[in-house]
Amino acid sequence: MKVYAIQDGFGLDHVRPLEKQIPVPGTGELLIKMRAVSLNSRDLGVIDGFYNPHLKLPFIPVSDGVGEVVGLGENVTRFKLGQRVSGIFTQSWISGEPTQEGWVSTLGNPLDGLLAEYVVLPEQGLVHVPDHLSDEEAATLACAGVTAWHAVVEEGKVKSGDTVLVQGTGGVSLFALQFAKLHGANVILTSSSDDKLERAKALGADQVINYKKTPEWDKAVLELTDGRGADLVVDLGGAATLNRSLQALRVGGQISIIGILSGASVENFDIIAAILRKARLQAINVGSRDMFESMNSAIAQNALHPVIDRVFPFEQSVDALRYLSKGTHFGKVCISL
Ligand SMILES: NC(=O)c1ccc[n+]([C@@H]2O[C@H](COP(=O)([O-])OP(=O)(O)OC[C@H]3O[C@@H](n4cnc5c(N)ncnc54)[C@H](OP(=O)(O)O)[C@@H]3O)[C@@H](O)[C@H]2O)c1
Repeated sequence: MKVYAIQDGFGLDHVRPLEKQIPVPGTGELLIKMRAVSLNSRDLGVIDGFYNPHLKLPFIPVSDGVGEVVGLGENVTRFKLGQRVSGIFTQSWISGEPTQEGWVSTLGNPLDGLLAEYVVLPEQGLVHVPDHLSDEEAATLACAGVTAWHAVVEEGKVKSGDTVLVQGTGGVSLFALQFAKLHGANVILTSSSDDKLERAKALGADQVINYKKTPEWDKAVLELTDGRGADLVVDLGGAATLNRSLQALRVGGQISIIGILSGASVENFDIIAAILRKARLQAINVGSRDMFESMNSAIAQNALHPVIDRVFPFEQSVDALRYLSKGTHFGKVCISL
């Protein structure tokens, strides 16, 4: 079978096809013929050696994907041949709080990822996906979808009338927009592009701010909320946004600390601003299988469709990763097998 692997060094230039044996499922495991994967900003960080410079190469990247069950190991009870399944991001995080040990079971680093024609995964690390979704749509859920669900619903507890601020128009942001709208929130979305802002409005964003043209977008959020601030800020920018996210927050509000799009450490974090708001800073690390299944129910009940920017064929996997790295996408970039 063919896989794409980071081979003799880090960086996109070192991601190339590789022939491997089709793996054999052991007890409690399934053989899955991959149908589609979706790409995340994290996959680029893994390929660049940013997340784990000690990763053993060759290594198969990409955490998210959907496939068909084509082989069953002994004692499998949760799935049948022919069913469509998605891997869960942290293979051992089933419910409740995560554990320190769990982080060694995340797909696409340190466990091999899904950019392969076939993969073997334990049945505990898989979920069914909503029937109404295409393979590519279903492949977007495991990281970006679950992260946004965790932030907006599980921890954010967003309810009708709340104001939610989401940043940019990448995968996590647009899922957060969709989930916040499902719960009746007023959503303010920021983007560097007026064209993308118009598309976000068509998806349900109530108010939009161009963060390039309005660098003090936190003040714009306060104006839009009559000085009150947002109930929940889904922070995806990291270094360049966290302090402004705090300024845009209402007293008693929550910031979901998720992204590092502009860097992973914040200088001069404004502690007094946090104290004055009694701000709740809730870091999010994707989510559990239970959260994934709750999200799937909501997606199915509401016939919601994830936003896909572009689908590449498997043979153009490296082009797809390069395209993601340019940051021009709106929603998810997928690869079809
Ligand atoms: N903690 C977790 O569990 C978790 C899970 C998933 C993702 N993440 C992180 O969350 C971030 C977003 O992930 P993603 O997969 O959604 O990324 P993505 O799809 O690549 O999103 C990229 C978009 O973000 C926007 N952006 C870039 N820099 C920005 C900035 N300084 N301020 C505001 N928006 C900015 C841009 O939108 P415009 O073009 O519209 O400006 C860009 O197109 C990444 O840092 C990723 O590593 C964390």
